[in-house]
Amino acid sequence: MSSAHTRWGRPLDTLVARLHYLELASPDPLATAQFYERAMGYEVRHTNDAIIASGPDRHLIFVPGAPKTLMRAGFAVPNVAERDRLAARIERAGFSHRPVVTDLLTDAIETVDPDGNRFVFGIARDRSQRMQALPARLQHVVVASRDPAKIVRFFVDALGFTLSDDVVDGEGGIRTSFLRCSQEHHSFAVFKAAEDRLDHHCYETTDWNMIRDWGDHMASEHIPIQWGPGRHGPGNNLFLFVHDPDGNWVEISAELEIVDHQRPAGRWPHEQRTLNSWGQGLLRS
Ligand SMILES: [Fe+2]
Repeated sequence: MSSAHTRWGRPLDTLVARLHYLELASPDPLATAQFYERAMGYEVRHTNDAIIASGPDRHLIFVPGAPKTLMRAGFAVPNVAERDRLAARIERAGFSHRPVVTDLLTDAIETVDPDGNRFVFGIARDRSQRMQALPARLQHVVVASRDPAKIVRFFVDALGFTLSDDVVDGEGGIRTSFLRCSQEHHSFAVFKAAEDRLDHHCYETTDWNMIRDWGDHMASEHIPIQWGPGRHGPGNNLFLFVHDPDGNWVEISAELEIVDHQRPAGRWPHEQRTLNSWGQGLLRS
């Protein structure tokens, strides 16, 4: 086992990536993009078949479709060698991938999880934004699934993510799994739910004072905070949530846990305190 580790202690057969963009379906893509322009400081531009919203360290693509639908999540890998290791891992696990052309990643491949969610991995294009906006790096995306264990197996075996923490109910059933592809506690998570859909996406800001500034910014735009501020148990991050016009939860977070590669996966009870150690939880069931 020891030969399969890098000099940072990261197992060689794990993925190194960061969330780079999300493509969301919306019944009214323009109205939803304009909400993100107001709420999150995006600049919106139109292409032939989509609306692209870009800001510093954050990108969203909107296409027509049903609400609460994740069309694609795009992850940036550091280089082509990392993409090739990923492609080989996907094949070994019995899944497939194909090359795709995207506006935001080059040399990209796309693969599909057992629920039909599409994930793209490639090299980030230089879309440096000089605009002024509060800091908020697109950091994680979370889906709901009727069978989260199946999604976790795909993320670990085919993609090379590492399990950071599970949330477990009284009968031992997995309610939530948090997975990482860097030292950040999670870049992806999956909740157990009655249907397969997008749950939420999150932006990591710099510190607690910036959570205050984001709260003040939302207030100035008359966008009410729907949950928080609070602190999650798994990941230990400070958070607040707002809703977009399609009913998607949007999270702003700070102080997300940095995980040592040797740390074993944790288990948390499915209770309010796990979801929000400061107060009321938001239990999906
Ligand atoms: Fe989150």
